[in-house]
Parts: sequence; C-alpha cells; structure tokens
Amino acid sequence: MKYLLPMSLVLAVTGAACSDPDPGTPGPMAGAAGLGNAGAAGAAGSGGMAGDAGGASAGTAGTGGTAGGGAGGSAGSGGADNPMPTMLSQTGLYSDITAKTLSPGVYAFEPTYALWSDTAAKKRWVYMPPGGKIQTDANNRGMEFWQFPKGFKLWKEFSRDGKVIETRILQKLGDGVKDWYMVAFKWNETQSDALALPDGEMNAMGTQHDIPTKKQCEDCHATTYDNALGFSALQLSHDDPTGGMTIAKAVELGWFNTAPPATGYKLPGTEVEQKALGYMHANCGMCHNTFSNVFNAKTSINLWTRLDQIDSVQKTAAYLSLVCDQWPGVNDKQTPFPTECEPGHATGATMDIKDLSKAKRVVPKDIANSSVHHLMSTRISAGATSQMPTIGTEMVDTAGGLAAVEAWINSLAQ
Ligand code: HEC
Ligand code: HEC
Repeated sequence: MKYLLPMSLVLAVTGAACSDPDPGTPGPMAGAAGLGNAGAAGAAGSGGMAGDAGGASAGTAGTGGTAGGGAGGSAGSGGADNPMPTMLSQTGLYSDITAKTLSPGVYAFEPTYALWSDTAAKKRWVYMPPGGKIQTDANNRGMEFWQFPKGFKLWKEFSRDGKVIETRILQKLGDGVKDWYMVAFKWNETQSDALALPDGEMNAMGTQHDIPTKKQCEDCHATTYDNALGFSALQLSHDDPTGGMTIAKAVELGWFNTAPPATGYKLPGTEVEQKALGYMHANCGMCHNTFSNVFNAKTSINLWTRLDQIDSVQKTAAYLSLVCDQWPGVNDKQTPFPTECEPGHATGATMDIKDLSKAKRVVPKDIANSSVHHLMSTRISAGATSQMPTIGTEMVDTAGGLAAVEAWINSLAQ
C-alpha cells in the first residue's frame, strides 16, 4: 500500500516545526533551529544507503550484521557513542543483538496512550547517558514539553504478521532542541542485524507494514517541542509491573533537573472521556498542537492536552477546539482563545477547511455531522480523498480510537 496523499496534506506537513507557542505562554522559540539540524543528520545518514532495500540489500545487511554486531559489542552499553549509526547493532540497544540481550542502562517502556499502527505490535526502549538530565522547567513551557540531553536515545520496534520488521531510533546528537538523529532500521532475513533505511519502504517483508522515510519521521516527531512523543510526563504516568520505565522510576533515578511528581498526571473526566482525550493526544496531538505549522497555517484544532489544563475536560484545548463554537479559526488573530465554553456554545467548533469534511469538528451526540469522526473513519488507500491521521495508517482503528471517539461524542452534553 502507498502513502498516497493529496498535495495539500503533503505541503501542509512539510516544514512543520516550531511555530507559535501557546497563546499567552512566553515563547520557547529555541526550537526554531530544529529542522535544519534534522536535515543535516538526514544527509549524513543517507550516505551510501540510497536506493531500494529489496532482496539484494537485505543480503548486504546480513553480512554487515556481523561487523555491526562486533562494533556494538565492543562499545558495550546503551551509551555506544556512534553519532549516526547505519546498523542497529551500532546504536547501543543490544549488548548481544543475536540473543537480543539489552545493553546495561537500556529500559523498556510503554506509553499510556499508544499510536495506532495498523495492528503492528510494538516495543519501546530508552537510554539515559550517565548524569544526563531532562529539562522540565525552561521557558515556562509546561511539564508536557521535555527537553532531552545529548546522548539520550529512544527505540521502537515494529512486528507484523509475526515478523520483526524494523526498529526506529531517536537519538539526541546535542543538548539543543530538535538536535536528533531519526531513522528506521530494517531487519535482515536472518534477523542478525538491521540496516538504516532513510528512504523507507512500502509493504516491508511482504506485509502491509510501511517503513517511514526520514522525512515522515519529521512530519510527526519534529512538530512539537523536542521530538519525543510517547516518552512524556503524561505517557509515563502509570505503573509498570514488568519493571519498565515510568515517571516514578525516572524520578527515582534522578533523570530530571526539576522532577515532576512521582505520582504523575491523569487526564480529567470519566473513563470514556479519558480514553478519547488520550487517544487524540497520542494519535493527533503531534500535528495538532501549538508548536506545529499545521496549527499555525491550516487549522486551529489543538489536541495535545497540556498538563496545566487538566482541571476538567471542558477546559482542555481538545474539548474547546473541537466542541466550542467560540474557538477562533486559524486566520482569526482577534478573537481570544476561550478557556471555558459559555452556555449555549457547545454546538461544535467550525471547520477551517470547508471542503474537507462536515461543517463542524465535533457536534455533541451527532456522529454523522462530526468531521473528526468522519476523517478518522476514512482511508486514502481505500479511495477516500482525506484521512486522519494523514500518515502512518491504512486501516481504520474501528474497535480502538474510532470507538473511543464515538463513545465520547455520544456522551457530550448538547
Ligand atoms: C504518523 C506519525 C509518526 C511517524 C511517521 C513516525 N512516528 Fe515515531 N512515534 C509517533 C508517536 C505518536 C509515538 C508515541 C506513541 C507510540 O509509541 O505508540 C512515536 C514513538 C516513537 C518512538 C518511541 C519514543 C517516543 O517518542 O515515544 C521512537 C523511537 C520513534 N517513534 C521513532 C520514529 C522514527 C525514527 C520515525 C521515522 C522512521 C518515526 N518514529 C515515524 C508518531 C510517528
Ligand atoms: C501527520 C499530521 C497529522 C496528524 C497526525 C493528524 N492530522 Fe488532522 N490535519 C492535518 C493537516 C495537515 C490538516 C489540514 C488538512 C488539509 O489541508 O487538507 C488536518 C486537518 C484536520 C481536520 C480539519 C480541521 C479544520 O478545522 O478544518 C480535522 C477535524 C482533523 N485534522 C482531525 C484529526 C484527528 C482527529 C486526528 C487524529 C485521529 C488527526 N487530525 C491527526 C495533519 C494531521
């Protein structure tokens, strides 16, 4: 299957990076340099890897696997200091890649709210360099926008139809915002190693799974403050009986300059409300947030729930920007962003893009006239002209996200 996108969507996400901060929040514009850095990493990362990764390259990856395994082994920890590795074995994830033994200092973690990836099973890991600190308090940007230190790494592995297909890395190259190396590594046939694939691949290993290009990593990961999406205060606020990384554990290990409460954060509302807000935070918020160009240029929808706005569902930007008809449109610089919806105005926020779907974003108790529901239930690969999210999925998450949003819309007071 293909990433077939109408040009408007492609253009909209291109170059999306730090734009305006939240109205009223002092400006964390350090991120403005972002895409330049990511671009540079891209150029270096693609050296010698251009072209397709069919059978021939898979064979090459197999050979490289031995060499790469050696290199990773000698460095010997999650700190293996290779700035832009081209083999997974060089990233420091495993001390023994064949046995899949994790390096010392590498922890598994699970976000509370996951991204829907068309049934793929996912595993995630994190590594903090010795003495490294997550900055939680600079620029008054709020606890949900962390800034990560040089040498910090995150990995995510994708399996589909029982095959381990790819492992992605987000590796911090410097202390600055958005200074990341981001790429996917495709596993070889013998599963001895995985090779960086900056140009991505459709239908990898004969499955329906698409490995994203480096550009697509940026479309989702370079659109908020410092690129990590599932490793955040909200997403780590849960227990993990398997011993994975949680907010409590990261606090205990001293990973923060100013620590969040070890008990973490909770989205407001009933279970139905939490599920819908959490799903939209994880699956939509990376594009629909105040740092993104989508917010600045396309639509004023804001689905990244800020932890300083979780007193009640009705005060979240997600609720207000979807349901309240007082929420200003994207080109409206006069109307203030409401912090509460006045009585009689919870009738559905007006769409910015008139020809995309219905007239309103979310109409309480009226699924058929709610664009959010419509756009989540269509796929371009199935012939639709638009879909949400715009990339990364070809299958509707019917039983998960769509059901959660449906239940929420039906629960809203008219
Ligand atoms: C469609 C948007 C999208 C695309 C494209 C995408 N990601 Fe992600 N990624 C996410 C979201 C959302 C999460 C957090 C939720 C989850 O893991 O289920 C995430 C999680 C991750 C994680 C775990 C750490 C974290 O931030 O939570 C890594 C590592 C990662 N992605 C790397 C990559 C790389 C490398 C690419 C490109 C090859 C890429 N991603 C492409 C949306 C995306
Ligand atoms: C990869 C980025 C990305 C993700 C993720 C994403 N969107 Fe969007 N969204 C866009 C872009 C870009 C547009 C503008 C569409 C256009 O220009 O045609 C848009 C437009 C919309 C609109 C129309 C808004 C208006 O005011 O007219 C809705 C509704 C919407 N998105 C909902 C969602 C929901 C719900 C999710 C999650 C299930 C989501 N989006 C995930 C990029 C994204």
